[in-house]
Amino acid sequence: MAIKACIFDAYGTLFDVAAAAREAAAEPGRAAFAEVWQKVASDWRLKQLQYTWLRAVADAHTDFWEVTQNGLDWALDASKLDDPDLRERLLALYWELSAYPEVPQMLGALKSAGYQTAILSNGSPDMLAGAVRSAQVGDLLDDVLSVEAVGVFKPHHSVYQLVLDRFDCDRGEVLFVSSNGWDAAAAAGFGFHCVWVNRAGEPMDRLPWTPHKVLSDLTTIPDLARTF
Ligand code: LAC
Repeated sequence: MAIKACIFDAYGTLFDVAAAAREAAAEPGRAAFAEVWQKVASDWRLKQLQYTWLRAVADAHTDFWEVTQNGLDWALDASKLDDPDLRERLLALYWELSAYPEVPQMLGALKSAGYQTAILSNGSPDMLAGAVRSAQVGDLLDDVLSVEAVGVFKPHHSVYQLVLDRFDCDRGEVLFVSSNGWDAAAAAGFGFHCVWVNRAGEPMDRLPWTPHKVLSDLTTIPDLARTF
């Protein structure tokens, strides 16, 4: 069954989530943060994701902006950074993350080849709109799908179902791309063809499902889409 829709996770997949901490660390007057920004960025991301999973299993949904702030507060606390100005700056930068360099060309090639393209993300619609605008990729996407439409975070199946409802296609006609191993694995369990973009060379998650392909960046996605 040929692929009709190429669907992308947002944070860490199209948009560089570490960019906020990296950029803030390079700003004048942030010497203490510059020492620990990588740990803060990593703690921030991990706690943000843990809170999404916990809220999903506990049936206690809130939006991604709330868990993003909660994750940052934990990360700053863990590094003993009591700095309201830094907190505000990091949160502001999260609304204007840059896309990875290969993203515009890759999405353009998919559109030229006739595929439907979209984001499917935990992000709230307003956060995603900010990121799409600052990365200037809006013209290359047919839609931006947020979990807020179903009120539960990934990897709940109702999130992946949003793609089938929007694009009127079968599970086997979807190529789903995520930099989160657990997301790519769970979407494979749902029945999508899945690519895990493993930029950091992490080990495979031990889950009941496995992504179909592991890549180190997004460059070859248009070629890969033709092979399914
Ligand atoms: C997202 C997170 C999981 O965009 O990266 O859904």
